[in-house]
Amino acid sequence: MRTFFNVADIGDLNQALHEAEEVKRNRFAYRSLGENKTLLMIFFNNSLRTRLSTQKAAMNLGMNVIVLDVNAGAWKLETERGVIMDGDKSEHLLEAIPVMGCYCDIIAVRSFAGLEDRDFDYAETIVNQFVKYSGKPVVAMETATVHPLQAFADLITISEHRDPAASARPKVVLTWAPHCRALPQAVPNSFAQWMNAADVDFVITHPEGYELDPKFVGNARVEYDQRKALEGADFVYAKNWSCPGVKNKADYGQILSQDRSWTIDSEHMSWTHNAYFMHCLPVRRGLIVTDDVIESSRSLVIPEAANREISAQVVLKRVLTSPYPSEGGEL
Ligand code: CP
Repeated sequence: MRTFFNVADIGDLNQALHEAEEVKRNRFAYRSLGENKTLLMIFFNNSLRTRLSTQKAAMNLGMNVIVLDVNAGAWKLETERGVIMDGDKSEHLLEAIPVMGCYCDIIAVRSFAGLEDRDFDYAETIVNQFVKYSGKPVVAMETATVHPLQAFADLITISEHRDPAASARPKVVLTWAPHCRALPQAVPNSFAQWMNAADVDFVITHPEGYELDPKFVGNARVEYDQRKALEGADFVYAKNWSCPGVKNKADYGQILSQDRSWTIDSEHMSWTHNAYFMHCLPVRRGLIVTDDVIESSRSLVIPEAANREISAQVVLKRVLTSPYPSEGGEL
């Protein structure tokens, strides 16, 4: 595996889930794989779970880890070409990336969407430069449009909690919920992409105007009536996202609704098939979900976070054991 951005990068999902089980049973079985190898983790944005779980996964594999917070201690980076760098940015990303590549065997990058220019964000302009110029395998720790380590951890969690006796596929509902800030679409995009590839009945619900990009929606059923969507659900995955600008590009990154009737509370959960509640965290209580739901015995938010270590370890293990081709494709 040269890059990890999309569900296709992991190959057969059943095999990946089997590997996750194996890693979870003995997470130190492959300590020699990472000996004398270095993971460089680059953060353009804040993180709690991704930072800790990916570092822990690399340590389980015997890797050395370097963490760089670009906005805390490094030179401020210019990302545009053709500019006269007479402002506060001292270094260009096009020099910084190959330099970073000199010091590691794998680069993991977190770089959120700016939510101002849809084309820039959806072209994955920043991380594609890492793919092109670092000379090293690149793992997404949440990019402008995808968060695959989260989606893989979510799939592992669903697979661990689905009813093995049920004859039907579990119904998984991704529901938009209100928020006070404009958030990126990376988590819902990846969740949709991975659920479409998984053996589940997948439904997406959101207010009008929040349509996700069709390349992530795929064949999922979109239901604008949240109650109808939640009826019979086995898993409820709540998440806020800002307008993806699919119907109206000018609305990209905007907050179109703060409708609190979409907040997941016990009444919403009563419409489901005693569903599990899921969220990637961090979560704003009172906006996305009420205290009683997130604290209930059906809440999976902590197991999801715990599985971030497992998803990262499977991915890093795959990268470490893959032959490294001289040329790689873009995202
Ligand atoms: N879910 C997630 O990626 O959490 P962090 O932003 O804290 O890394």
